[in-house]
Amino acid sequence: MSVLAQKNPHIKVTVVDINKEKIAAWNNPDLDGLPIYEPGLKEVVREARGRNLFFSTDIDKAIDEAEMIFMSVNTPTKTYGKGKGMAADLKYVELSARQIARASKSAKIVVEKSTLPVRTAQAIKDILDNTGNGVKFQVLSNPEFLAEGTAINDLINPDRVLIGGEESVEGREAIQALVDIYASWIPKEKIITTNVWSSELSKLVANAFLAQRISSINAISELCEVTGADVDEVARAIGMDSRIGPKFLKASVGFGGSCFQKDILNLVYIAKTYGLNEVADYWEQVIIMNDHQKRRFSENIVSALYNTVSGKKITFLGWAFKKDTNDTRESAAIYVADALLNEQAEIAVYDPKVSKERIYADLDFLETRSPEENRKRVKVMKDPYEACTDTHAIAILTEWDEFKEYDWERIYKSVVKPAFVFDGRKLLDGKTMTDIGFKYFAIGEAQ
Ligand code: UDX
Repeated sequence: MSVLAQKNPHIKVTVVDINKEKIAAWNNPDLDGLPIYEPGLKEVVREARGRNLFFSTDIDKAIDEAEMIFMSVNTPTKTYGKGKGMAADLKYVELSARQIARASKSAKIVVEKSTLPVRTAQAIKDILDNTGNGVKFQVLSNPEFLAEGTAINDLINPDRVLIGGEESVEGREAIQALVDIYASWIPKEKIITTNVWSSELSKLVANAFLAQRISSINAISELCEVTGADVDEVARAIGMDSRIGPKFLKASVGFGGSCFQKDILNLVYIAKTYGLNEVADYWEQVIIMNDHQKRRFSENIVSALYNTVSGKKITFLGWAFKKDTNDTRESAAIYVADALLNEQAEIAVYDPKVSKERIYADLDFLETRSPEENRKRVKVMKDPYEACTDTHAIAILTEWDEFKEYDWERIYKSVVKPAFVFDGRKLLDGKTMTDIGFKYFAIGEAQ
């Protein structure tokens, strides 16, 4: 929304949320205090905030004033009842739709931005039409394809913008109104329009395809480790085939983030609902492979450390699900830490952007052990060198650039010998690490 406001100074954009603290943080005069860390974001907020970009908790007023309303609410995986663990929980979408219906006194275009199961737009329209004040609503689907860490660039230069709408005169008018907003900075040929259901499904499918590439290369990483092939070399060789392409072929300790797992589970659930069991099983395998990759990383640490990590200090470099973000949702680090804590390891974590509170909250959420025990066994450090001192093993969980710049000779001197490094991102140079004296294990590389 900030980029949309920045690129359309003539349009007033009000971002509303029921969470007062969040809105206060978005209004924080200190731009380093914004609730999200994202390169380039504060510059955009600095330019637009107070000009045509506003943050408020007065939801009804903003709804009433708006001609177009973007719904960007949380759609977590259901944790209860039918579809538990798979289907998207649409509770917040429904609550927002009911609030929009109640507060609207003039016609509105409602744009679904959240990733939703196919045919949700129809449900939103039903609620709006049946609980509203008789005003007209058009519902559009406009899924967001930005990735964290590169969000601002992805928004300014997207590969495409997708807008789905109703195939009627009113539907086409609503689509055009949204096309016009994007067209103020995006070339027209990159703005594609479809029916609502194609648009909704495309978002799930895009994420499923991206995640599938990672699971595919991760499956090959395990094969590389036993055959002596190098997964980066394989990725480079296959990626130069223009039909395959080079992106999303970096082997890792497993993909994380708020979208991939959730969206695939959702896709699997939808396929199952329609009785398409082979389709469901095909996509579920992407998740199964990802879980395997996280599990085998922690198992490899235990087996290399002479089959026991009990009472041993293990240092995690990185906790975020990828570099350049402080987001930790579904981060592989959480699951690797949990597995090692089950083996009675002591963990020290250093991440340049993730807070101590976030790390403990991630572990507490699993409910594997008490919050007290998590605090006792996991120490969050502000200095990477201190985090590595007297450690039995260093595990790299996030591909932060700064890890490559560390004085690894200095680190080598401070750790327990033999000195182990488990590189879950294949980030460091294996030869340099081995020359220093480390026993260096990287995903997709034979020892
Ligand atoms: C993703 C989609 O890319 C984006 O289009 C969608 O809108 C939201 O979901 P995001 O989750 O922010 O974006 O990050 P992404 O860069 O896709 O990375 C997801 C995970 O995959 C990270 O854990 C990342 O480390 C991992 N990854 C990515 C790999 O392991 N290897 C790769 O080659 C690429």
